[in-house]
Amino acid sequence: MSDALDIDALVDEARSYIEAAQSTEEIRQMTANVSGKKSPIAEAHRALGGLDPEERKELGRRLHGARTTIEELIERRRAEITFEELTREMAGARIDLTEFIPGAIVAPPARGHLHLVSQTRDALEDVFVGMGFEVAEGPEIETDWFNFGALNIPPAHPARGMWDTFYLNLGSPESTLLRTHTSPVQIHLMEDAVVNGGLPIHAVMPGRCYRRDTPDARHLPVFHQIEGLVVDRGITFADLAGTIEVFTTAYFGPDIHSRLRPAYFPFTEPSAEFEVTCTICHGEGCRTCSMTGWIELGGCGMVDPAVFDAVGIDTDEWTGFAFGFGIDRCAQMRHQIADMRALIENDIRFLRQF
Ligand code: PHE
Repeated sequence: MSDALDIDALVDEARSYIEAAQSTEEIRQMTANVSGKKSPIAEAHRALGGLDPEERKELGRRLHGARTTIEELIERRRAEITFEELTREMAGARIDLTEFIPGAIVAPPARGHLHLVSQTRDALEDVFVGMGFEVAEGPEIETDWFNFGALNIPPAHPARGMWDTFYLNLGSPESTLLRTHTSPVQIHLMEDAVVNGGLPIHAVMPGRCYRRDTPDARHLPVFHQIEGLVVDRGITFADLAGTIEVFTTAYFGPDIHSRLRPAYFPFTEPSAEFEVTCTICHGEGCRTCSMTGWIELGGCGMVDPAVFDAVGIDTDEWTGFAFGFGIDRCAQMRHQIADMRALIENDIRFLRQF
């Protein structure tokens, strides 16, 4: 035991044991083996007693150094193992949400956007606001008076057949219904203007309407209209025709124009249907426009004096025009949607195109 190489070999042997230890338990066992009472280094210490004082002192000092080195190696390995064990334990304790919701973390949720009908309503409002109109809204549940009576359609008048109506409580004194058009909002605006001194009126009124129609390629029982109303001094039919033409080119583009054809509505006189150039064939004539080159978009006319009388507007001072057309129909024409039912089927593959 007296030569220096033995001590170095002792340390090297201890080091290889220490580095091989893989757990706290193995560290404990290994510590007993390399530095415990029965370890080679402890035996070497015991053997010091048989040496002469000089040798004992020298060897004792080196054995002490070796023991210190071994203890340091053990401590370092113990710290490493503790860290490894803790890391393993923490990894096991982590909750991995991706196991429960496939793709939740990997793929961010898709963002939605406004429905095509909402986009179309916004675009139409923009066009009219640019022409000086204000935007107004009214209720979807109306009384008979607002939807029909004030609009010069008395009870049992044959013109009621023009609108297939969802009545809510037909027969009661104040019967209510789901509005069949946005024209009742005209009445609200005019009554309000009479009470609050709000004349003249230049307003558009978008909103949802209801009719007892079977859905088909061009009709929905729940659909959207935008109504226009101008009440001012000296308003003529030319103002109406000009407004419709400016709107048509602004919304559909410079090669799409409008034309008016005589029609009948109880609340306008004279009345007209307005048509715009077919957006499919650009006026050439095709199946969609029945070879006419024109597609009907809505109704319009000069406000009937009977309507002014109903709301109390002086017909000697004021004249006006009104128009109304389908927002869904506009979207259909501008984007060439073959079947309007696609707008309410909520097929994301269709909706996300717009
Ligand atoms: N309210 C009519 C309809 O729904 C359209 C219209 C509005 C006609 C304004 C003339 C004036 O059919």
